[in-house]
Amino acid sequence: MARSLIDVLDLSLDEIDELIAVANDIIANPRKYSEVCHGKKLATLFFEPSTRTRLSFEAAMYELGGHVLSVSSGASSSAAKGESVADTAKTVSCYADIIAMRHPKEGAPYVASLNASIPVINAGDGGHNHPTQTLTDLLTIKREKGHFENLTVGFCGDLKFGRTVHSLISALSRYSGVRIVLISPDELKLPSYIKNDVLKKNGIPYKQTTDLLSVIPELDILYMTRVQKERFFNEEDYLRLKDSYILEPRKLETAKADLCIMHPLPRVNEISVAIDDDPRACYFKQVLNGKYIRMALIMKLLKEAGTI
Ligand code: NCD
Repeated sequence: MARSLIDVLDLSLDEIDELIAVANDIIANPRKYSEVCHGKKLATLFFEPSTRTRLSFEAAMYELGGHVLSVSSGASSSAAKGESVADTAKTVSCYADIIAMRHPKEGAPYVASLNASIPVINAGDGGHNHPTQTLTDLLTIKREKGHFENLTVGFCGDLKFGRTVHSLISALSRYSGVRIVLISPDELKLPSYIKNDVLKKNGIPYKQTTDLLSVIPELDILYMTRVQKERFFNEEDYLRLKDSYILEPRKLETAKADLCIMHPLPRVNEISVAIDDDPRACYFKQVLNGKYIRMALIMKLLKEAGTI
């Protein structure tokens, strides 16, 4: 079975450092990598909507000299006829060298990895995990702050269903001196399994609040998130909670001068567009970083599989 990436903790800290170093080298010398995956194929199997993740994987493979096969919605694939994830994975292994899969069901990319003969990358599974967004976020933090240690990181918005939050908290829990501030409405708090198995288990200091303004001055990083409409059971709850936090310029008056404002995107209205030109806004830098770190990851997994 080829090595896959299902959870960010599948990677050691040294491997994460190496991926970041390779991504920085790609940024500095893109032409050096332009033929590394010549003739190889990436299959993007996306059973949930996506703009950045799918297109950044595809741009990454093209920039490595490879090709892309794409399923961009469940409705257009045999999943709509009732095919299992396991059979889809076996099938795509006959056509491609590596798979990036997004699926509404938690664990689906893991099931795919058990059945594929090629590496499978989890590109987001339900409300669970999103390890390549986390690699994107880590590259961004490293480039903006220079280090991961001793940072106070605030997560704001939908901490219950936000898979990018879950994965990034896991990843940050391995660095010393990290403090986590959880900012959400009561109904959208971080699940207790993450508080217990990740924060408490690793002795990470954290606090929970509903009030963004009261904690903004302490933050080095503010990670904003969208309320995850598609995971709500009823629309009434979504409508009640969707505007809980809207970051506007006046709310940044007490923030640090070198605060780094992040967001995995897509944004709905939780960050005012008036903040886009603030030098502290890092979310479009994240978008670009996502392509480079995915290039580094595709190369790593294809090298380990002996494909390149
Ligand atoms: C995120 C996701 O899909 O979880 N988007 C992304 O991949 N950049 C965040 C979101 O959809 O809110």
